[in-house]
Amino acid sequence: MDLKQYITIVPDWPKPGIVFKDITTLMDNGEAYKYATDQIVEYAKEKNIDIVVGPEARGFIIGCPVAYSLGIGFAPVRKEGKLPRETIKVNYGLEYGSDVLTIHKDAIKPGQRVLITDDLLATGGTIDATIKLVEELGGVVAGIAFLIELKDLDGRAKLDGYDVLTLMEY
Ligand code: PRP
Ligand code: ADE
Repeated sequence: MDLKQYITIVPDWPKPGIVFKDITTLMDNGEAYKYATDQIVEYAKEKNIDIVVGPEARGFIIGCPVAYSLGIGFAPVRKEGKLPRETIKVNYGLEYGSDVLTIHKDAIKPGQRVLITDDLLATGGTIDATIKLVEELGGVVAGIAFLIELKDLDGRAKLDGYDVLTLMEY
């Protein structure tokens, strides 16, 4: 299946100069959403994943159906002030700003094999921060899966040494 036909390109959003890749038109097509999810599920099976971790909000959209399909857990990474119990945190930059990401301290057990998911790899700031959170808790990042990779921003350079799956490239 050609997944790109389900992505909507929105120029100059959320800021002038950003060419936004809107995945909602993929998600609202059941066949396309299932096909994309199934690709990541197969990848996760090869990597013997114990738990899926994804950053808010679009990392949930990709990671939760993968975790459900595998019958394993999902641990959310959220912006500061959103998780109710003890967290660890990290600062990060992204294509159009900067923020703080957090994860519950007990979300991952040391040695667990983690799949990180998100919709899109741009500068790699979000995923670099998510990797730091997982590794600080003793998790092993066994794979990282995205729907979309923006090649020009070279986010892959930040993920050197990690196993990365992307389903579409722009
Ligand atoms: C977007 C996207 C990725 C990140 C990619 O999330 O969903 O998480 O940016 O950019 P990067 O590779 O430069 O870090 P955003 O922070 O806009 O949050 P949202 O998912 O809550 O909309
Ligand atoms: N997150 C960061 N950059 C993005 C882009 N160009 N399109 C969609 N999501 C993004």
